[in-house]
Amino acid sequence: MPDRRKLIVVSNRGPVAYERVDGRRVARRGGGGLATALRGLQQLHDVTWIASAMTEEDRAVAAEGGGEAVLIAHDEAAYDLYYNVVANPMLWFIQHALWARVESPSLGHDFHEAWHDGYVRVNRSFAEAVVVELDNNPGATVFFHDYHLYLAPRFVRDARPDARLAHFVHIPWPTDWTVLPEPMRGAVYDGLLANDVVSFHTERWARNFELSCAGAGRTRITHHAISVDVAEFEELRSSDAVRAEQAQLPRPERLIVRVDRTDPSKNIVRGFHAFELLLETHPEHQGRVRLLALLDPSRQAIPAYAEYSAAIEAAAASVNARFPGAIDLRVEDNFPQSIAAFTRYDVLLVNPVYDGMNLVAKEGPLVNERDGVLVLSENAGAHEELGEWAITINPFDLWGQAEALHEGLSMDAAERAHRAEALRSHVREHDVGRWIDGLLTDLDRS
Ligand code: G6P
Repeated sequence: MPDRRKLIVVSNRGPVAYERVDGRRVARRGGGGLATALRGLQQLHDVTWIASAMTEEDRAVAAEGGGEAVLIAHDEAAYDLYYNVVANPMLWFIQHALWARVESPSLGHDFHEAWHDGYVRVNRSFAEAVVVELDNNPGATVFFHDYHLYLAPRFVRDARPDARLAHFVHIPWPTDWTVLPEPMRGAVYDGLLANDVVSFHTERWARNFELSCAGAGRTRITHHAISVDVAEFEELRSSDAVRAEQAQLPRPERLIVRVDRTDPSKNIVRGFHAFELLLETHPEHQGRVRLLALLDPSRQAIPAYAEYSAAIEAAAASVNARFPGAIDLRVEDNFPQSIAAFTRYDVLLVNPVYDGMNLVAKEGPLVNERDGVLVLSENAGAHEELGEWAITINPFDLWGQAEALHEGLSMDAAERAHRAEALRSHVREHDVGRWIDGLLTDLDRS
């Protein structure tokens, strides 16, 4: 294990968000793989993190200053353009191949304005905050995260040419960026290539970056699979909060579980229709198998996300109209409930259109107590590591997904136990500490 290091970690969302509950300040766990990674980094190294103030209470923390966290209270209009117009959906949709392209996107003057007055501006504010921290901590390594911050490394490099900069992209990297006009896409590549190291979860995304960047110069391109904090999950599994949630879960004969943010990349609507097809083509499962869908509401200020949430509700209602009670849909942010559901699934459905990694595919098998089967999209980064012990599906193929669910429900006990054990030991041996060490080793070599 390398020594403790001084790291300046920069991400849009920090590992926690502050809220005021009954007059008291409380820190709430941030969702997504990135937040997990940051918490892991904080435990092992000397981290100053720079993130956006996202809640009213974050803004209060930002105004007080001091402490380990630097929360930037951006201009609200600029932040809205950066987050709700450029980062999500534009960049997110490009990188998860979600644009249908027949009619959308259609970029007017307003998008160009959102780029300059939102994305560029917020990236500049991040870079300014980084430079201040670097001057306070000469020799610290700057560690940027994700698609919100593609331009910031160039701004920092211009101001501090000798700084040590790394960037981790947590989402897929496609080779086709033609939806985004030049010079915007040029700026994305230029910004990333201002880093000493650019890293991705999988070989597939790293290779796509290498293929599409027209020469990396002195930047090293690497890949390291993010993972979970194994000790944290094992502790959580037996916590009172999780045990209490377990008592509230449905207890059908067989349980299929999915846990996601309400994001179009997660392919929730197709998943519901695949389940419907399963009940239609294999009627022996009717009334015996239920699908529990635990969905964390996400990015609802963006029309495409709000529409997708409505489509999720409608799809569940139409399946339940045919097969009463078949889908138990719960849209809420309830982490202990998700862990409780992980312990009890017979089949875990992870069918994203595309996904950088997908930590559900690791968290579930780690805490499951029923030798449950993992049904996994070939386009999830996790498939590169876990595919051999999962049932692989194509996320567009409803029929294939229905058959995979049937195969999972019908698998014999010995085969299930063998696969579940293999998944568990893989995750135990490849936890988040290993991901961090890999990245820091890259930096030492750069
Ligand atoms: C994904 C992204 C993260 C993001 C998270 C939650 O995991 O890679 O960068 O923080 O989703 O999304 P949100 O928009 O709520 O931060």
